[in-house]
Amino acid sequence: MCNGGRVPSGVALLTGGAGYIGSHTAVELLCAGWDVVVVDDFSNASPVALERVARIAADHPGAGRLRHHRLDVTDTPALTRVLAEERVDAVVHFAGLKAVGESVEQPLRYYRVNVGGATSLLEAMAATGVRRLVFSSSATVYGEPATVPVDERAPLGPTNPYGRTKLIVEQVMRDVAAADERSRFVALRYFNPVGAHPSGLIGEDPEGVPNNLMPYIMQVAVGRRPRIRVFGDDYPTPDGTGIRDYIHVVDLALGHLAALEALDRLDPFTAVNLGTGQGSSVLEVIDAASRAVGRQLPYEVVGRRPGDVAAIWADPSLAHELLGWKATRTLDEMAADHWRWQSRNPQGYRGAPAG
Ligand code: UD1
Repeated sequence: MCNGGRVPSGVALLTGGAGYIGSHTAVELLCAGWDVVVVDDFSNASPVALERVARIAADHPGAGRLRHHRLDVTDTPALTRVLAEERVDAVVHFAGLKAVGESVEQPLRYYRVNVGGATSLLEAMAATGVRRLVFSSSATVYGEPATVPVDERAPLGPTNPYGRTKLIVEQVMRDVAAADERSRFVALRYFNPVGAHPSGLIGEDPEGVPNNLMPYIMQVAVGRRPRIRVFGDDYPTPDGTGIRDYIHVVDLALGHLAALEALDRLDPFTAVNLGTGQGSSVLEVIDAASRAVGRQLPYEVVGRRPGDVAAIWADPSLAHELLGWKATRTLDEMAADHWRWQSRNPQGYRGAPAG
């Protein structure tokens, strides 16, 4: 049930490792032989996810060991103790807030948690001599792209506080790396992660009404919501709906593994896109989900969502060049795996344990 499976490794600390992308990355790292130490305050994640991660890895001979600590990343002394006691070799920093609309309403909270969390982590790393870091950034740092596909040299201009926190953290990493050339920092700019582990044991479990398309579609599929709302069909795209670069979360997780294993060959700071290089429209995603579920899912077209761009997808060639990584999973696999998770766990981790 693992996809990785090469070369031994070391100890990786994953902040926010119980979350959606963190838990999938924990699986792939464990399976590749890394020991994984998760730190999470479980403010938007469930400890059940970690039990499931351990269960997936247990089936894999040679998997590393999983430990976890409940703590808030802005608690620098506690983080410093964990880094020292666990003899951490490298950190993957996922912990943070990620809702665009909420960041507009509560900007200070976003700056405190996302920027404050990252500076706290960098201080703890400096205090313990840990110099390898992979950061969970976002394609949102590009804002409205002038041309597509977007490569890493495209102008940066996030259009909301959430996106600005990601860009600020990248800039902090750049400055810290410039002050200590032994640093090996990578910012991974994710496009649109969807899907779930093929076991159906772990997946995305948003609280409240999902903001993102695929989780919303899947809640319609299990009957938690009546119909999908398509935010605008008058964009200048072939079918009029927005185009994004959806990437299977297992491919994304394998991108983190590739980044960790490439770190020592890279410059002190590097930003890398993780996407498939292919765009899909909202209607194409609904079609793929309908195929996975086995019936046409109901939708209605409503007005555009403020702040949405018409079309953005990645040029992922730098990731291939520097990390030797490429996404391989199709939109149909993303939909099928997301559906397996959602149908077996209709209420997410709050429901009965998956079989
Ligand atoms: C959103 C965030 C982005 C963040 C990413 C995290 C906004 C404006 N952008 O990206 O900053 O990094 O999530 O995953 O919130 N759509 C519908 N109906 C829905 C939901 C979405 O039609 O119920 C459409 C959107 O208009 C868009 C596409 O589906 O065209 C994807 O939307 P979404 O999943 O929210 O991702 P992004 O907007 O790309």
